[in-house]
This record gives sequence, C-alpha cells and structure tokens, in this order.
Amino acid sequence: MTAVKNNTTQPQVLVCVVGARPNFMKMAPIMRALQNVKHLITPYLVHTGQHYDQAMKDTFFQQLGIPKPDMDLGVGSGTHAVQTANIMLKFEPVLDDVNPFAVLVVGDVNSTVACGLVAVKKQIPLIHVEAGLRSYDREMPEEINRILTDQLSDLLLTTERDAASNLLKEGISEDRICFAGNVMIDSLLNNCNQASSLRDTLDNYACTQTVSENNYALLTLHRPSNVDDQATLARLIKIISELSQKLPVIFPVHPRTQQKISQAGLLAELSEQRVVLLPPVSYLEMLGLMRSAKLVLTDSGGLQEETTALGVPCITLRENTERPITVTEGTNTIVGTDPVKIMQCVDEVLTSGGKSGRVPEYWDGLAAQRIVAEIIHRYLPGN
Ligand code: UD1
Repeated sequence: MTAVKNNTTQPQVLVCVVGARPNFMKMAPIMRALQNVKHLITPYLVHTGQHYDQAMKDTFFQQLGIPKPDMDLGVGSGTHAVQTANIMLKFEPVLDDVNPFAVLVVGDVNSTVACGLVAVKKQIPLIHVEAGLRSYDREMPEEINRILTDQLSDLLLTTERDAASNLLKEGISEDRICFAGNVMIDSLLNNCNQASSLRDTLDNYACTQTVSENNYALLTLHRPSNVDDQATLARLIKIISELSQKLPVIFPVHPRTQQKISQAGLLAELSEQRVVLLPPVSYLEMLGLMRSAKLVLTDSGGLQEETTALGVPCITLRENTERPITVTEGTNTIVGTDPVKIMQCVDEVLTSGGKSGRVPEYWDGLAAQRIVAEIIHRYLPGN
C-alpha cells in the first residue's frame, strides 16, 4: 500500500476504468459514491472502447447515470492480443497526463487486466473491484484476466467472503484483501424500481409474439466456449428449440452470438420456434426481463448474481462458475451443456418452482460506499 502524501487540500485523482458492458453496472455506484467525497477524490473516468455499439455502451451510460468518460480510448474489437495491446498503448499516456494516486478497475474483461498492467508498471497502486473470483477453468479468457489482475493489485475488494481463500492460496497477503460486497447488486437495487415492463420491452422491439409475465424463459449466451464452436452452438440451439415447446423463450442476442448463429446457418431454426429474438437490450429492459421470467438460462456471470438477488431460478449453461455463492446460497444451478441435464433442470423448475435461495451477505446496495471508505482509509489517511 502506498499512502498519498496528502498535505495539500487539493482532491487527488483516481483513474477509474470501464471497457465492456458488464463493467458499466459495476462502475455506476462507485462513481456515485465518489460524488460524496469530491473534496478528497476527483474521479477520472476512462472508457477503453472495448464495447462500442450503442446498444452495448451508450444506453448503459444514460440509464445508469454514469458521467461521460473523461477519456475514450476507442480501441474496439480485435484478437485478445491486439485488443489488450491497443488498450495498454493508449492508456499509458493518460496516466502520464493525469498522475493519479491509484487506478481502479472492475471485473475480469480484457480492459481490466490491460489497464492494471500499465498502472503497476508505472508504480501506481491498482485497486481491483470484484477480486478473488475463480472458476478454476483456465480456458476461460476471464479466468486469466482475474488471476493476473489480482496478482497485480494493491487493494483487492471482494464480493463474497470465500473469495479471500482463493487469493490467499495464490500468495496474496491478507492485508491487501477487503470484503466489500457486490457493486453489481448496488446497481440492481438502485434501478429495480425503474425496470421496464415486459410489454414495453417487447413493444420497443416491435415484437408481436404473445409472451406473458412469469411464463417465459429468458436466455443469454455469449461465452466463446458455448458460441464459438459450431457443434456446441448447434446443440444449444436445438435444446432452446425444444424448450420453447414448453415455454416461450426471450433471447436478447449478443453481437458475438449473432455473428456465430448467422455463420452457422442456425437462424432459421430459431425463428421457426416460440423464441423471441431481440438485439442486445438496455439495462432497465434486462432487469425487467429477469424479474418477470419464470427462469433464466445463461452463461453470463452477472446474470447468475442478479437472478440470485432477485430470487429468480437460474440455470447456468457452463461446467463451472467463479461465483459459487450463487449456487450455495442463491438460486443458481450449474448444468453445463448436456441436453438431458438442462431439460431435467428446466422440468424441475417448472414443477417445483426451483430454488428460492437467499441474498448473500453485503449484497445490500452499500458495497460502493464501503469501497470508497476503504480507499480513503488506505490511500488518503487522516481524512
Ligand atoms: C466481453 C468480455 C466478457 C463479458 C462480455 C459481455 C473479455 C475477454 N470478454 O466479451 O467477459 O462477459 O464482454 O458482453 O473481455 N462486438 C460488437 N459490438 C460491440 C462489442 C463487440 O459488435 O460493442 C462484437 C465484435 O464482433 C467482437 C465480438 O462482439 O469481436 C466480441 O466482443 P469482445 O469485446 O471481444 O468480447 P465479448 O464476447 O463481448
């Protein structure tokens, strides 16, 4: 830890980084909590531009009330190496210009590790929000990003108590770890009242199919392991088609998935079923779709947490999760991509209502406040 020599009355600059869609709901409450300590900290928001489509970026900024970024690096898509390298190249001069006392990164996307590495090489303390999550699956690009970012970080803020044991096993000292709670759930609790109704969302996309509240499955799919391999994708699409015989499916399609489904020629099969295909929806629409779903099928990390907070049954189409508390305490069941297991789990939810679960500790809407208090305590002592 490096305490800032704060013998002036000037607020100190904290660089905060976002890059991809799941970062936005994590950063929004932190930016809001920082507003309350303006006399101590000036946030400088950097958007790397990893996600650049309006549907993946602008609507989230508007709905979550995130201020316009001070800097947009505009990196866009590319291979992992190209994207990571471009972010690093463009981020370094920003740090030279603004000279922050620390850099704060959230989550596990390429922007997180790229900016973290640049900060540490410049001897600027790195703060990682959502530290310590591990799927123990190194084929997942996010797992590599998590491990590396945590190794680089000076302050590691965790969302669940057990995450600390993952970090201790990797040799990270206990005094760098702080259990602060879940900022994604701060955003959910802040915005739940404004969530879009099912009807408004369907109308917004000119959808004429009949789907009623609490009587549909919500589906999201975007993990490379599920969508990049044609055989796996075809298997999943077949299951979705079958599932839609039992229950209509609403499927907001991520750009990566859209490309893969089109390339594999699977669009026709889906369109013939009771499957409502939507483009990527806004944050408030997604909250509304989750809240009134009978069940959610997903490979997203964020949705596993949000469904646990909302008490909606979640079936995770992956072999593992880095968020085990959503299984042990929440509404999540990990089923992988085996059609038989998926259908068994769906049937169980349809007959018994599924897991009800409980909301984990510190998923209480106050995580960002705890994070900001910890930052002040560590880096701006005496305030
Ligand atoms: C990224 C994150 C993932 C996160 C996901 C949420 C990494 C390694 N992955 O995955 O952890 O769960 O975001 O969305 O950082 N594309 C667009 N418009 C955009 C962004 C992407 O069309 O605004 C297309 C591009 O063709 C791109 C592809 O989607 O190649 C994948 O985007 P990319 O940012 O590489 O990864 P995601 O799959 O979105």
